[in-house]
Amino acid sequence: MLQDNFPIRKVDHIRHYVGNARQSAYFYRSIFGFDMTMYHGLETGLKHEVDYLLEQNDVKLLFTAPVRPGHPIAEALAIHGDFVQDIAFEVDDVDWSFHEAVRRGAKPAREPFSLKNDEGEVRLASIHIYGDTIHTFLNRDNFKGHFLPGFRERFEPGVGIGIQEIDHCVGNVALGQMNVWVKWYEDILGFKNIISFDDNDISTDYTSLMSKVMASGNGRVKFPINEPAPGKKKSQIDEYLEFFGGPGVQHVALRTDDIIDTVKKLKAKGMEFLRVPKTYYEMLSDRVGDIDEDIEVLSELGILVDRDDEGYLLQIFTKPITDRPTLFYEIINRKGATSFGKGNFKALFESIEREQEVRGTL
Ligand code: FE2
Repeated sequence: MLQDNFPIRKVDHIRHYVGNARQSAYFYRSIFGFDMTMYHGLETGLKHEVDYLLEQNDVKLLFTAPVRPGHPIAEALAIHGDFVQDIAFEVDDVDWSFHEAVRRGAKPAREPFSLKNDEGEVRLASIHIYGDTIHTFLNRDNFKGHFLPGFRERFEPGVGIGIQEIDHCVGNVALGQMNVWVKWYEDILGFKNIISFDDNDISTDYTSLMSKVMASGNGRVKFPINEPAPGKKKSQIDEYLEFFGGPGVQHVALRTDDIIDTVKKLKAKGMEFLRVPKTYYEMLSDRVGDIDEDIEVLSELGILVDRDDEGYLLQIFTKPITDRPTLFYEIINRKGATSFGKGNFKALFESIEREQEVRGTL
């Protein structure tokens, strides 16, 4: 068996830079049912920005906004709009992780440092990845408190919708850059390429893309990386790169154990999803065989199904959650399948193209 040459325990949290963290917190609490749990801002000694932590089971989302003019975060927001800025990992040894990653070629973002209070110490350091995105390494083995020193409890419960954990995070990079980043994750973080899709797998009459799925040594962290492939019209990846202003995180997949319940609750709160044509469901049982769910219910909700050697999965994609056609979410329910829904790509991309057509960006 291959050795894990860069131990990562799991994704600890995802940090979003946003224009108004209070309103983002409200959105994620009321629509996705996250609990607001911790706060750090002017009232707790932070002078230039504000942080809200939202949680549901194993998912931690951090929302950070600048509160003064001329803040560097505001410059990044002016370019990208609200975006995923940090996919933070929990690791055994922050200092080793940072120095080893830099030795292997990573660009440093923040040298190792400690946050301390009377509950102990959390060690952190960060490296750059594509665009304005970073990976933070953190370890709170010597911290008895919750999340990070400096944060104060501010509990405003949401009504959970069954989101369990982050299943995967997808990055969009420019043409020709996918393999650069595949190699980066291999060389620096010891990830392995577990699945590849080329433009024959993922193409419609108009657009295509290529994708490679990278997984960490313990298999718990999965990052597909997409690049556009030449097509007759502008691909969804090109649209993203144009509106985002470079490479960045395209979607975050949240895992649930009951996708029908989760999606019903999201819809009741007004979340909008991509739709595939009704004909998708006419062919479904031929394609995926027996499944536990009622196809009629899946069809009503627009939930997609795919099967691989190990089982099947159910998935659905939201429309972009920002004004720009950039970040969206996937809700995924795995019933044994470890893959990413290749059988749904075509129907899905035709659905995205219909949206692009309405936006005039196809
Ligand atoms: Fe996905």
